[in-house]
Amino acid sequence: MTNDPYALAEDAATALKDALGVESVDVALVMGSGWVPAADAIGETIAEVPVTDLPGFAPPLVAGHAGRIRAVRTALGKIALIFLGRTHLYEGRGVEPVVHGVRTAIAAGARTVVLTNAAGGLRPETQAVGEAVLISDHINLTGANPITGATFIDLTDVYTPRLRDLVREVDPSMAEGVYIAFRGPTYETPAEVRMCRALGGDMVGMSTVLEAVAAREGGAEVLGISLVTNPGAGLVGEPLNHHEVLEVGRATASRMGGLLSKVVDKL
Ligand code: 6GU
Repeated sequence: MTNDPYALAEDAATALKDALGVESVDVALVMGSGWVPAADAIGETIAEVPVTDLPGFAPPLVAGHAGRIRAVRTALGKIALIFLGRTHLYEGRGVEPVVHGVRTAIAAGARTVVLTNAAGGLRPETQAVGEAVLISDHINLTGANPITGATFIDLTDVYTPRLRDLVREVDPSMAEGVYIAFRGPTYETPAEVRMCRALGGDMVGMSTVLEAVAAREGGAEVLGISLVTNPGAGLVGEPLNHHEVLEVGRATASRMGGLLSKVVDKL
């Protein structure tokens, strides 16, 4: 096996296409916590493979907990790769396993990457818990970057404006906002939440930004959507509870599947 992460992604893409029985893919969707119920609405399942069968993927921290890649065919015949689970920076394996899925999807042919996540809401005045928000831009406070060396990539439109417009053709009510990422796994302190609001953030989470940068480096277009599962710490009282975060995600994500299937067929 190679140490070069890009060559490793090529190897994984070859193994993935072989395992799923597809020749190429059009789009990849990374389903964040709570988004897995949305996967079933995106299309008809062709095949599914555990990531542990492929080169370069970290085994999920919790055994039997997601870590699968599904190929689906949409109503209009597009082939989508759906990542059920992702690797997070807080798992402590470094940045490369975090972006390996995106790099693999791009090596398999994906020109569009849809990144979903569960996030804390920084604007409870206007955001409802359970609301999906389009990511318009991000602030990367993880301290990490998937790109090394003197590769200076423009990040003016990390999240492709045209893709946000496509979503609003399906659901004109969807708001957009700036996603701030921390490494985690702790949630933010109330002081950090106030800092994020002062910085112009609208959502806060522990994923997505590194994958978005890797996708842009690979030349793909990116759509990002946050499911606001709770307000940030200190904004409205109750301390944060991981199980509540997952529950809210589950209850509302299935509705997002229908939206994503329409968006994929408009690509
Ligand atoms: Cl409040 N913070 C972070 N970092 N991630 C979250 C969250 C908050 N709520 C859901 N995911």
